[in-house]
Amino acid sequence: MDKLIIRGGVPLNGEVSVSGAKNAVLPMLCASVMASDKHVILKNIPHLHDVTTTVRLLRQMGVSVTLDDNMNIQLDPSTIKNYYAPYDLVKTMRSSILVLGPLLSRFGSAKVSLPGGCAIGTRPVEMHLDALTQMGASIGIDNGYITASCKKLIGAEIRFSKTTVTGTENILMASTLAEGKTIISNAAREPEVVDLANFLNKMGASITGHGTDIIEVTGVEKLRGVSYSALPDRIETGTFLVAAAITGGCVTVKNTISSHVSTIIEKLKLSGADITLTDTSITLDMKGKRPLAVDIETGAYPLFPTDMQAQLTALNTVAKGKSIIKENIFENRFMHVQEMTRMGADIRVENNCAKISGSEKLIGASVMATDLRASASLILAGLVATGITEIERIYHIDRGYDCIEEKLQQLGANISRVPV
Ligand code: EPU
Repeated sequence: MDKLIIRGGVPLNGEVSVSGAKNAVLPMLCASVMASDKHVILKNIPHLHDVTTTVRLLRQMGVSVTLDDNMNIQLDPSTIKNYYAPYDLVKTMRSSILVLGPLLSRFGSAKVSLPGGCAIGTRPVEMHLDALTQMGASIGIDNGYITASCKKLIGAEIRFSKTTVTGTENILMASTLAEGKTIISNAAREPEVVDLANFLNKMGASITGHGTDIIEVTGVEKLRGVSYSALPDRIETGTFLVAAAITGGCVTVKNTISSHVSTIIEKLKLSGADITLTDTSITLDMKGKRPLAVDIETGAYPLFPTDMQAQLTALNTVAKGKSIIKENIFENRFMHVQEMTRMGADIRVENNCAKISGSEKLIGASVMATDLRASASLILAGLVATGITEIERIYHIDRGYDCIEEKLQQLGANISRVPV
């Protein structure tokens, strides 16, 4: 198992290019099993463990998957031979649940392990299952597995009681091949949901309303293979912007879409950053200043993303003033706080709020990554801390950040990966 070693205190400067969005690519890989002809080609694929795990999952179902040198993935679903997602793979990556809708819709059968516990909260999937039941599926839970079957899914009016990203995506995918019309209300509006809908429409689906909270899908007979390039990762974008802000540097993030990170930009401006936008890039210049404290409250898109909460927590630990971070999506997403406290941060967690008094400085320490975004926040804390920070269990970071230490090194950071 590797660890990251960071010597903090270097202001980051330069340009960095953002990779394709993990949370768009994973559902697209799952959706590809619905194509009835041979080839689906996905481009702008990030080099991530979660992508590798999804490819393993599809391969063990019999899907032929090839990757070229540019990380384009070509999938041939015609060779699929089983509709099964085993516990071994699902336990390492909850988004494996995204094969349920596509398998059921196209083949009328699926056996998918129930995702187990998770570091950031309980994360149940009952809304996915209720919606599929409403569409005519028979669903049972047997030995930790969801077993689902149907003759053909039937369009239905689905109203989610709470906004769910993968729940919306599962039903969106399932309804493309269902009989008749499906209306999804209180649908998630995240850019990754919109990208998935655009991908499905290119495959021949009939989806309207994506990007609003009511999505309408008219079922079609079949979907065809297409070539599609995934959108850039907005959380990676936000993480590099915070890296510039926390170190007092000046960084241009390229290959991004600024409208997808508006709430993050708004908060970083309040923290004292100068921000300049072009169509595909964002430049953040902190001009060597210490950031000002900013309050954050997470919510479903277009509100402030929970996946950036830990990174803004890191920024506030060294900011001038006090701040309150309110986490409204997941009940246990403050695991990074204890580790940051070990670096000298002054944070108190009460229920779903973290109260932070900004310190002049953090001091490097050995810390442990507990989940993907917590890992990113500890890297950010290490970049500004005096002395050496060692981050263990960094396999979490490799699930969702493409070549993070290389990209940070390119910006001048003193960071290296060493085997333990
Ligand atoms: N929820 C339920 N029942 C359900 C489904 C969800 O109660 O059946 C609850 C969850 O427990 C949570 C809330 O609804 O309190 C929202 O969860 P959601 O379903 O939207 O989360 P998700 O789809 O499991 C995706 C991302 C997460 C991201 C969240 C919120 C993917 C693969 N994952 O998860 O990404 O934090 O939406 O935006 O798209 C990450 O990338 O680090 C990550 C965790």
